[in-house]
Amino acid sequence: QQGPVVLGIETSCDETGVGLVRDGVLLGEALSTSMDEHARYGGVVPEIAARAHVQAIVPCVRAALASAGMAASDIGAVAVTAGPGLATALHVGVSAAKAYATALGVPLYGVHHLAGHLAADLVDGQPLPNPLIALIVSGGHTSLLQVGDLARDPIVHLGDTLDDAAGECFDKVARVLGLSYPGGPAVDRGAAGHDPTALAFPRPLLGRNDAPYTFSFSGLKTAVARWAESHPDSGVASGDVIASFQEAVVDVLTAKAIRACRDRGIADLLIVGGVAANSRLREVAASRCAAAGIRLRVPARRRCTDNGVMIAALGDLLVRAGAPPSPPDLAAMPGAY
Ligand code: KG4
Ligand code: ZN
Repeated sequence: QQGPVVLGIETSCDETGVGLVRDGVLLGEALSTSMDEHARYGGVVPEIAARAHVQAIVPCVRAALASAGMAASDIGAVAVTAGPGLATALHVGVSAAKAYATALGVPLYGVHHLAGHLAADLVDGQPLPNPLIALIVSGGHTSLLQVGDLARDPIVHLGDTLDDAAGECFDKVARVLGLSYPGGPAVDRGAAGHDPTALAFPRPLLGRNDAPYTFSFSGLKTAVARWAESHPDSGVASGDVIASFQEAVVDVLTAKAIRACRDRGIADLLIVGGVAANSRLREVAASRCAAAGIRLRVPARRRCTDNGVMIAALGDLLVRAGAPPSPPDLAAMPGAY
């Protein structure tokens, strides 16, 4: 017997994402972004993101349904990112999800954005190994987690960043180096083919036994800013500088993730979130994991950044596990929880 078609909605930041998943199979999807509208401010402006979500949400749901060859009446459950994220942006998705669930008379599941990232490639691959170590690296988060059954077990936080998230560091450093917005992809492109060992930027908290799973990126950001100040004539920074900065981030992320696997005796590592789209991170993680005997799983690039498919995939997992739906007074939870 078939399970319900799960509509997934994601609006925690600047992407309006919609996905349709049933029994682990992707049926349809749509994605709209307000990224370009934020470029001249150098970062996501919450009010602009929220207005864009209001405009995009219904067309995105319609487009996803059209790509699946389905009608709204085929939807059997709704999952939505409840948080964390930008408050005004989250309210749009949560309100839309409640409206669809109420109008269609189907259950509603408010889900955690990070759990959604963990489910990102369930529709493309095998079920997740249990247990696994997950490295979540996005614009808002840098966390090492121990994950069991995603639908049933609480996620154990091993460590987080003390200051900037890895993606935030990419974005801020890109600005300092004169690269375009958003910074992560610009650094990735700018570093390609250049020497990552040209400059020795700091590796914050690397090898620190008192903080094995804790990250810090503000010092690295400052170090690159100092380099830029002392080279005022460089204009757009050279590829070697960009590659050296990227290498420092990648070195710290991969070393700490592998250490967590070793310490915990877990041989499966999952890397997700927008920064998991980074070419060098994917490359270094693959070679270091192979050397350490760790199985590495990284979703396809388009499933690393925010999208609705990951929320639909998680909702589908919850439905199949018989998890209780959210109460009708579900509210957005912008803060960390
Ligand atoms: O997961 P995501 O789409 O949104 C959040 O939940 O934050 O992650 C966005 C972050 C941004 O900081 C962006 O610069 C970074 O992911 N990012 C990258 C790459 N693509 C996106 N960072 C490094 N290399 C990339 N190729
Ligand atoms: Zn995200």
